[in-house]
Amino acid sequence: MTESVARSRSLADEAAALDAADPLAGKRAEFDLDDAVAYFDGNSLGAPPKHVAQRLTEVVREQWGGRLIRSWNDGWWDAPQRIGDRIAPLVGAAAGQVVVADSTTVDLFKTLVAAVRANPGRDEILVDAGTFPTDGYVADQVARLTGHALRRVPVAELADAVSERTAAVLVNHVDYVSGRLHDMPSVTDAVQAAGAFAVWDLCHSVGAIPVRLDECAVDFAVGCTYKFLNGGPGSPAFVYVAQRHQAEFDQPLAGWAGHADPFAMEDGYRGSAGIARARAGTPDMLSMLALDAALDVWDGVDLAVLRAKGLALGDFFFQCLDELLPGAEVPTPRDHARGHQISVCDPGGQQTMDALHRQGVLGDFRPPDVLRFGLAPLYTTYGEVLRAVTTLHGLR
Ligand SMILES: Cc1ncc(COP(=O)(O)O)c(C=O)c1O
Repeated sequence: MTESVARSRSLADEAAALDAADPLAGKRAEFDLDDAVAYFDGNSLGAPPKHVAQRLTEVVREQWGGRLIRSWNDGWWDAPQRIGDRIAPLVGAAAGQVVVADSTTVDLFKTLVAAVRANPGRDEILVDAGTFPTDGYVADQVARLTGHALRRVPVAELADAVSERTAAVLVNHVDYVSGRLHDMPSVTDAVQAAGAFAVWDLCHSVGAIPVRLDECAVDFAVGCTYKFLNGGPGSPAFVYVAQRHQAEFDQPLAGWAGHADPFAMEDGYRGSAGIARARAGTPDMLSMLALDAALDVWDGVDLAVLRAKGLALGDFFFQCLDELLPGAEVPTPRDHARGHQISVCDPGGQQTMDALHRQGVLGDFRPPDVLRFGLAPLYTTYGEVLRAVTTLHGLR
Protein backbone atom coordinates (compact mmCIF):
# COMPACT_ATOMS: atom_id res chain seq x y z
CA MET A 1 0.00 0.00 0.00
CA THR A 2 1.50 3.34 -1.03
CA GLU A 3 1.71 6.14 1.48
CA SER A 4 -0.89 8.26 -0.35
CA VAL A 5 -3.38 5.34 -0.47
CA ALA A 6 -2.93 4.87 3.29
CA ARG A 7 -3.53 8.59 3.85
CA SER A 8 -6.67 8.50 1.68
CA ARG A 9 -7.98 5.57 3.73
CA SER A 10 -7.62 7.37 7.02
CA LEU A 11 -9.12 10.52 5.50
CA ALA A 12 -12.02 8.39 4.24
CA ASP A 13 -12.61 7.12 7.78
CA GLU A 14 -12.53 10.67 9.05
CA ALA A 15 -14.93 11.88 6.33
CA ALA A 16 -17.33 9.07 7.16
CA ALA A 17 -17.20 9.93 10.87
CA LEU A 18 -17.76 13.64 10.17
CA ASP A 19 -20.71 12.88 7.86
CA ALA A 20 -22.22 10.56 10.44
CA ALA A 21 -22.04 13.28 13.10
CA ASP A 22 -23.28 16.08 10.80
CA PRO A 23 -26.35 17.77 12.36
CA LEU A 24 -27.41 19.00 8.90
CA ALA A 25 -27.00 15.63 7.16
CA GLY A 26 -30.75 15.20 6.79
CA LYS A 27 -31.03 18.39 4.73
CA ARG A 28 -29.32 16.90 1.68
CA ALA A 29 -32.34 14.67 1.00
CA GLU A 30 -34.40 17.83 0.43
CA PHE A 31 -32.34 18.61 -2.68
CA ASP A 32 -32.50 17.11 -6.13
CA LEU A 33 -28.87 16.05 -6.35
CA ASP A 34 -27.30 13.26 -8.36
CA ASP A 35 -25.09 11.32 -5.97
CA ALA A 36 -22.83 10.38 -8.88
CA VAL A 37 -21.55 13.97 -8.99
CA ALA A 38 -19.93 15.94 -6.20
CA TYR A 39 -21.37 19.43 -6.53
CA PHE A 40 -19.10 22.32 -5.51
CA ASP A 41 -20.75 25.19 -7.33
CA GLY A 42 -23.49 26.14 -4.90
CA ASN A 43 -21.63 29.46 -4.60
CA SER A 44 -22.58 30.10 -8.23
CA LEU A 45 -25.82 28.18 -8.80
CA GLY A 46 -27.42 26.53 -5.79
CA ALA A 47 -28.94 23.07 -6.19
CA PRO A 48 -32.73 22.80 -6.58
CA PRO A 49 -34.78 21.83 -3.54
CA LYS A 50 -36.93 18.89 -4.64
CA HIS A 51 -40.30 20.46 -4.00
CA VAL A 52 -39.68 23.53 -6.20
CA ALA A 53 -40.66 21.78 -9.45
CA GLN A 54 -44.02 20.71 -8.01
CA ARG A 55 -44.67 24.18 -6.56
CA LEU A 56 -43.92 25.83 -9.89
CA THR A 57 -46.29 23.47 -11.65
CA GLU A 58 -49.01 24.50 -9.17
CA VAL A 59 -48.22 28.16 -9.70
CA VAL A 60 -48.51 27.81 -13.46
CA ARG A 61 -51.65 25.68 -13.37
CA GLU A 62 -53.56 27.13 -10.45
CA GLN A 63 -52.35 30.71 -10.01
CA TRP A 64 -51.51 31.69 -13.57
CA GLY A 65 -53.96 29.34 -15.34
CA GLY A 66 -56.76 29.07 -12.78
CA ARG A 67 -56.82 32.52 -11.22
CA LEU A 68 -55.41 34.41 -14.21
CA ILE A 69 -55.24 38.19 -13.66
CA ARG A 70 -56.83 37.83 -10.20
CA SER A 71 -53.57 36.36 -8.88
CA TRP A 72 -52.02 39.81 -8.80
CA ASN A 73 -54.48 40.67 -6.02
CA ASP A 74 -54.22 37.21 -4.45
CA GLY A 75 -50.64 37.76 -3.34
CA TRP A 76 -48.51 38.30 -6.40
CA TRP A 77 -48.24 42.07 -6.17
CA ASP A 78 -46.96 42.07 -2.59
CA ALA A 79 -44.76 38.99 -3.02
CA PRO A 80 -41.53 41.05 -3.31
CA GLN A 81 -41.98 42.44 0.22
CA ARG A 82 -43.36 39.18 1.63
CA ILE A 83 -40.43 37.16 0.30
CA GLY A 84 -38.06 39.94 1.36
CA ASP A 85 -39.34 39.41 4.89
CA ARG A 86 -38.50 35.70 4.55
CA ILE A 87 -34.91 36.58 3.58
CA ALA A 88 -34.63 39.19 6.34
CA PRO A 89 -33.77 36.74 9.17
CA LEU A 90 -31.04 35.24 7.00
CA VAL A 91 -29.34 38.64 6.79
CA GLY A 92 -30.05 39.74 10.35
CA ALA A 93 -32.66 42.31 9.40
CA ALA A 94 -35.93 43.13 11.11
CA ALA A 95 -39.01 42.92 8.88
CA GLY A 96 -39.81 45.69 6.42
CA GLN A 97 -36.25 46.34 5.26
CA VAL A 98 -35.71 43.76 2.50
CA VAL A 99 -37.44 43.56 -0.85
CA VAL A 100 -36.89 41.10 -3.71
CA ALA A 101 -36.58 42.74 -7.10
CA ASP A 102 -34.59 42.76 -10.32
CA SER A 103 -31.02 41.49 -10.58
CA THR A 104 -28.05 42.21 -8.33
CA THR A 105 -26.59 44.46 -11.01
CA VAL A 106 -29.77 46.53 -11.26
CA ASP A 107 -30.16 46.65 -7.49
CA LEU A 108 -26.55 47.78 -7.08
CA PHE A 109 -27.27 50.64 -9.45
CA LYS A 110 -30.46 51.70 -7.67
CA THR A 111 -28.90 51.44 -4.25
CA LEU A 112 -25.59 53.12 -4.97
CA VAL A 113 -27.27 56.09 -6.65
CA ALA A 114 -29.68 56.39 -3.71
CA ALA A 115 -26.79 56.20 -1.23
CA VAL A 116 -24.88 58.92 -3.04
CA ARG A 117 -27.97 61.13 -3.31
CA ALA A 118 -28.61 60.70 0.41
CA ASN A 119 -25.16 62.06 1.17
CA PRO A 120 -24.82 65.35 -0.74
CA GLY A 121 -21.82 67.65 -0.73
CA ARG A 122 -19.29 64.83 -1.17
CA ASP A 123 -17.45 64.07 -4.38
CA GLU A 124 -16.18 60.49 -4.38
CA ILE A 125 -17.31 56.88 -4.22
CA LEU A 126 -15.01 54.08 -3.06
CA VAL A 127 -15.27 50.51 -4.28
CA ASP A 128 -13.58 47.37 -3.00
CA ALA A 129 -10.61 46.87 -5.38
CA GLY A 130 -11.18 43.11 -5.60
CA THR A 131 -14.86 43.47 -6.29
CA PHE A 132 -16.89 41.22 -8.55
CA PRO A 133 -16.74 42.98 -11.94
CA THR A 134 -20.40 43.99 -12.14
CA ASP A 135 -20.10 46.06 -8.94
CA GLY A 136 -17.10 47.90 -10.35
CA TYR A 137 -18.80 48.55 -13.68
CA VAL A 138 -21.93 49.83 -11.97
CA ALA A 139 -19.94 51.99 -9.54
CA ASP A 140 -18.11 53.47 -12.51
CA GLN A 141 -21.37 54.39 -14.24
CA VAL A 142 -22.89 55.75 -11.04
CA ALA A 143 -19.82 57.94 -10.58
CA ARG A 144 -20.12 59.21 -14.16
CA LEU A 145 -23.83 59.91 -13.85
CA THR A 146 -23.61 61.66 -10.50
CA GLY A 147 -20.36 63.53 -11.16
CA HIS A 148 -18.37 61.74 -8.46
CA ALA A 149 -14.84 60.40 -8.65
CA LEU A 150 -14.45 56.65 -8.23
CA ARG A 151 -11.53 55.10 -6.38
CA ARG A 152 -10.79 51.39 -6.14
CA VAL A 153 -9.32 50.59 -2.75
CA PRO A 154 -8.36 47.21 -1.22
CA VAL A 155 -10.73 46.44 1.64
CA ALA A 156 -7.83 46.34 4.13
CA GLU A 157 -7.07 49.99 3.24
CA LEU A 158 -10.64 51.29 3.21
CA ALA A 159 -10.55 52.57 6.78
CA ASP A 160 -7.64 54.86 5.92
CA ALA A 161 -8.96 55.84 2.50
CA VAL A 162 -12.50 56.89 3.47
CA SER A 163 -12.78 60.60 4.25
CA GLU A 164 -15.10 63.61 4.40
CA ARG A 165 -15.04 63.51 0.58
CA THR A 166 -16.59 60.03 0.42
CA ALA A 167 -20.32 59.71 -0.17
CA ALA A 168 -20.57 55.90 -0.26
CA VAL A 169 -18.42 52.79 -0.14
CA LEU A 170 -19.35 49.61 -2.00
CA VAL A 171 -17.80 46.49 -0.53
CA ASN A 172 -18.21 42.73 -0.95
CA HIS A 173 -18.85 40.73 2.19
CA VAL A 174 -17.00 37.67 0.83
CA ASP A 175 -14.45 38.00 -1.96
CA TYR A 176 -15.62 35.97 -4.97
CA VAL A 177 -12.12 34.76 -5.94
CA SER A 178 -10.35 34.06 -2.66
CA GLY A 179 -13.37 33.45 -0.43
CA ARG A 180 -11.98 35.93 2.12
CA LEU A 181 -14.61 37.26 4.54
CA HIS A 182 -14.45 41.01 5.08
CA ASP A 183 -15.20 42.28 8.54
CA MET A 184 -18.61 43.90 8.32
CA PRO A 185 -18.63 45.57 11.77
CA SER A 186 -15.23 47.26 11.53
CA VAL A 187 -15.54 48.31 7.87
CA THR A 188 -19.03 49.70 8.43
CA ASP A 189 -17.85 51.59 11.53
CA ALA A 190 -14.90 53.11 9.67
CA VAL A 191 -17.06 54.15 6.72
CA GLN A 192 -19.68 55.71 8.94
CA ALA A 193 -17.11 57.43 11.17
CA ALA A 194 -16.12 59.40 8.05
CA GLY A 195 -19.78 60.27 7.45
CA ALA A 196 -20.07 57.96 4.42
CA PHE A 197 -22.62 55.23 3.77
CA ALA A 198 -21.78 51.54 3.51
CA VAL A 199 -23.29 49.45 0.71
CA TRP A 200 -22.57 45.74 1.10
CA ASP A 201 -22.74 43.08 -1.62
CA LEU A 202 -23.89 39.90 0.13
CA CYS A 203 -23.91 37.56 -2.88
CA HIS A 204 -21.35 35.18 -1.37
CA SER A 205 -22.44 35.42 2.25
CA VAL A 206 -26.24 35.19 2.29
CA GLY A 207 -27.23 31.59 2.98
CA ALA A 208 -23.62 30.74 3.81
CA ILE A 209 -22.89 32.60 7.01
CA PRO A 210 -25.00 34.50 9.54
CA VAL A 211 -25.14 38.11 8.29
CA ARG A 212 -25.94 40.80 10.88
CA LEU A 213 -27.07 43.86 8.97
CA ASP A 214 -29.12 45.48 11.74
CA GLU A 215 -26.58 44.68 14.44
CA CYS A 216 -23.77 46.22 12.33
CA ALA A 217 -26.01 49.23 11.54
CA VAL A 218 -25.34 48.72 7.82
CA ASP A 219 -26.91 51.40 5.63
CA PHE A 220 -27.68 49.47 2.44
CA ALA A 221 -27.06 46.00 1.02
CA VAL A 222 -27.85 43.90 -2.01
CA GLY A 223 -27.52 40.20 -2.64
CA CYS A 224 -28.42 37.48 -5.08
CA THR A 225 -30.65 34.49 -4.39
CA TYR A 226 -29.40 31.94 -6.92
CA LYS A 227 -26.25 30.91 -5.03
CA PHE A 228 -26.55 29.71 -1.43
CA LEU A 229 -30.28 30.54 -1.32
CA ASN A 230 -30.93 28.06 -4.16
CA GLY A 231 -33.56 30.26 -5.82
CA GLY A 232 -32.80 28.96 -9.31
CA PRO A 233 -30.93 30.30 -12.34
CA GLY A 234 -31.40 34.06 -12.56
CA SER A 235 -33.74 34.22 -9.57
CA PRO A 236 -34.34 37.82 -8.47
CA ALA A 237 -31.99 39.65 -6.14
CA PHE A 238 -32.82 41.55 -2.96
CA VAL A 239 -32.20 45.01 -1.58
CA TYR A 240 -31.85 45.97 2.08
CA VAL A 241 -32.45 49.57 3.06
CA ALA A 242 -32.10 50.29 6.78
CA GLN A 243 -35.33 51.66 8.19
CA ARG A 244 -33.68 55.00 8.96
CA HIS A 245 -32.82 55.57 5.27
CA GLN A 246 -36.09 54.49 3.69
CA ALA A 247 -37.83 57.86 3.61
CA GLU A 248 -34.89 59.42 1.74
CA PHE A 249 -34.24 56.40 -0.55
CA ASP A 250 -34.26 58.28 -3.84
CA GLN A 251 -33.54 55.61 -6.41
CA PRO A 252 -33.11 56.31 -10.12
CA LEU A 253 -35.29 53.51 -11.54
CA ALA A 254 -38.44 55.09 -10.22
CA GLY A 255 -40.94 52.78 -11.88
CA TRP A 256 -44.59 52.25 -11.17
CA ALA A 257 -44.05 49.20 -8.93
CA GLY A 258 -42.31 51.44 -6.39
CA HIS A 259 -44.99 54.13 -6.56
CA ALA A 260 -47.01 54.99 -3.47
CA ASP A 261 -50.23 54.18 -5.34
CA PRO A 262 -49.30 52.17 -8.44
CA PHE A 263 -52.84 51.60 -9.67
CA ALA A 264 -53.80 55.26 -9.44
CA MET A 265 -51.82 55.69 -12.66
CA GLU A 266 -50.67 59.16 -11.66
CA ASP A 267 -48.47 61.20 -13.99
CA GLY A 268 -45.92 62.08 -11.34
CA TYR A 269 -43.80 59.69 -9.32
CA ARG A 270 -44.36 59.46 -5.57
CA GLY A 271 -42.22 56.83 -3.92
CA SER A 272 -44.00 54.27 -1.79
CA ALA A 273 -43.52 54.42 1.96
CA GLY A 274 -41.11 51.80 3.21
CA ILE A 275 -38.96 49.29 1.37
CA ALA A 276 -41.37 48.94 -1.60
CA ARG A 277 -39.88 52.08 -3.13
CA ALA A 278 -36.81 50.02 -4.02
CA ARG A 279 -39.01 48.19 -6.57
CA ALA A 280 -39.06 49.26 -10.19
CA GLY A 281 -41.31 47.33 -12.60
CA THR A 282 -43.51 44.24 -12.74
CA PRO A 283 -41.93 41.43 -10.73
CA ASP A 284 -40.92 38.22 -12.48
CA MET A 285 -43.45 36.01 -10.71
CA LEU A 286 -42.31 32.57 -11.83
CA SER A 287 -38.74 33.14 -10.65
CA MET A 288 -40.01 34.96 -7.58
CA LEU A 289 -42.26 32.06 -6.58
CA ALA A 290 -39.57 29.47 -7.32
CA LEU A 291 -37.41 31.39 -4.85
CA ASP A 292 -40.29 31.53 -2.38
CA ALA A 293 -40.56 27.73 -2.53
CA ALA A 294 -36.79 27.27 -2.31
CA LEU A 295 -36.68 29.31 0.89
CA ASP A 296 -38.69 26.57 2.66
CA VAL A 297 -35.46 24.60 3.15
CA TRP A 298 -34.36 27.22 5.68
CA ASP A 299 -37.22 26.42 8.04
CA GLY A 300 -35.68 25.29 11.30
CA VAL A 301 -32.06 25.82 10.20
CA ASP A 302 -29.90 27.35 12.90
CA LEU A 303 -27.45 29.69 11.14
CA ALA A 304 -24.83 29.09 13.83
CA VAL A 305 -24.96 25.36 13.01
CA LEU A 306 -24.80 26.18 9.29
CA ARG A 307 -21.73 28.35 9.82
CA ALA A 308 -20.03 25.74 12.00
CA LYS A 309 -20.50 23.09 9.32
CA GLY A 310 -19.30 25.40 6.53
CA LEU A 311 -16.13 26.12 8.47
CA ALA A 312 -15.65 22.44 9.34
CA LEU A 313 -16.02 21.47 5.66
CA GLY A 314 -13.38 24.08 4.83
CA ASP A 315 -11.08 22.87 7.60
CA PHE A 316 -11.41 19.32 6.28
CA PHE A 317 -10.67 20.58 2.75
CA PHE A 318 -7.44 22.11 4.08
CA GLN A 319 -6.59 18.89 5.91
CA CYS A 320 -7.08 16.84 2.72
CA LEU A 321 -4.93 19.31 0.78
CA ASP A 322 -2.20 19.17 3.44
CA GLU A 323 -2.12 15.40 3.33
CA LEU A 324 -2.64 14.76 -0.39
CA LEU A 325 -1.42 17.94 -2.09
CA PRO A 326 1.04 19.56 0.30
CA GLY A 327 2.33 22.86 -1.00
CA ALA A 328 -0.86 23.64 -2.98
CA GLU A 329 -1.28 27.39 -3.29
CA VAL A 330 -4.53 28.39 -1.58
CA PRO A 331 -5.62 32.06 -1.51
CA THR A 332 -8.49 31.30 0.88
CA PRO A 333 -7.64 32.18 4.50
CA ARG A 334 -6.91 29.18 6.67
CA ASP A 335 -8.18 30.98 9.71
CA HIS A 336 -11.92 31.41 9.80
CA ALA A 337 -11.95 34.79 8.03
CA ARG A 338 -13.55 33.15 5.04
CA GLY A 339 -16.92 32.36 3.56
CA HIS A 340 -17.83 28.90 2.34
CA GLN A 341 -15.53 28.43 -0.59
CA ILE A 342 -12.01 27.09 -0.95
CA SER A 343 -9.94 28.35 -3.86
CA VAL A 344 -6.92 26.46 -5.13
CA CYS A 345 -4.46 27.92 -7.62
CA ASP A 346 -3.69 25.57 -10.45
CA PRO A 347 -1.55 26.23 -13.51
CA GLY A 348 -3.89 24.09 -15.61
CA GLY A 349 -6.75 26.48 -14.81
CA GLN A 350 -9.84 25.83 -16.89
CA GLN A 351 -8.39 22.61 -18.32
CA THR A 352 -7.97 21.18 -14.84
CA MET A 353 -11.54 22.15 -13.97
CA ASP A 354 -12.77 20.53 -17.21
CA ALA A 355 -10.94 17.34 -16.22
CA LEU A 356 -12.53 17.49 -12.74
CA HIS A 357 -15.95 17.88 -14.37
CA ARG A 358 -15.32 14.79 -16.49
CA GLN A 359 -14.72 12.89 -13.27
CA GLY A 360 -17.91 14.19 -11.69
CA VAL A 361 -16.41 16.91 -9.49
CA LEU A 362 -18.22 20.14 -10.34
CA GLY A 363 -16.48 23.31 -9.21
CA ASP A 364 -15.62 26.30 -11.36
CA PHE A 365 -12.67 28.33 -12.59
CA ARG A 366 -11.92 32.05 -12.27
CA PRO A 367 -8.99 33.74 -14.01
CA PRO A 368 -6.10 33.78 -13.84
CA ASP A 369 -5.62 30.36 -12.23
CA VAL A 370 -8.17 29.78 -9.49
CA LEU A 371 -10.23 26.61 -9.07
CA ARG A 372 -13.19 27.41 -6.81
CA PHE A 373 -14.91 24.82 -4.65
CA GLY A 374 -18.10 26.09 -3.04
CA LEU A 375 -19.18 24.39 0.18
CA ALA A 376 -22.93 24.50 0.70
CA PRO A 377 -23.52 23.26 4.25
CA LEU A 378 -27.11 22.22 3.50
CA TYR A 379 -25.94 19.54 1.08
CA THR A 380 -22.14 19.28 0.73
CA THR A 381 -20.68 16.24 2.47
CA TYR A 382 -17.23 15.61 3.92
CA GLY A 383 -17.00 12.57 1.65
CA GLU A 384 -17.40 14.86 -1.35
CA VAL A 385 -14.66 17.15 -0.06
CA LEU A 386 -12.30 14.18 0.07
CA ARG A 387 -13.41 13.14 -3.42
CA ALA A 388 -12.62 16.61 -4.80
CA VAL A 389 -9.11 16.69 -3.35
CA THR A 390 -8.40 13.06 -4.25
CA THR A 391 -9.52 13.69 -7.84
CA LEU A 392 -7.39 16.84 -8.05
CA HIS A 393 -4.44 14.88 -6.64
CA GLY A 394 -4.95 12.27 -9.37
CA LEU A 395 -4.69 14.97 -12.04
CA ARG A 396 -1.36 16.35 -10.84
C1 LIG B 1 -20.34 39.37 -5.66
C2 LIG B 1 -21.25 39.32 -6.86
N1 LIG B 1 -21.97 40.41 -7.19
C3 LIG B 1 -22.80 40.38 -8.26
C4 LIG B 1 -22.92 39.24 -9.04
C5 LIG B 1 -23.77 39.14 -10.27
O1 LIG B 1 -24.79 40.03 -10.41
P1 LIG B 1 -26.09 39.60 -11.23
O2 LIG B 1 -26.91 38.75 -10.31
O3 LIG B 1 -26.72 40.87 -11.60
O4 LIG B 1 -25.65 38.82 -12.42
C6 LIG B 1 -22.20 38.09 -8.71
C7 LIG B 1 -22.34 36.87 -9.54
O5 LIG B 1 -21.69 35.88 -9.40
C8 LIG B 1 -21.34 38.14 -7.61
O6 LIG B 1 -20.61 37.07 -7.28
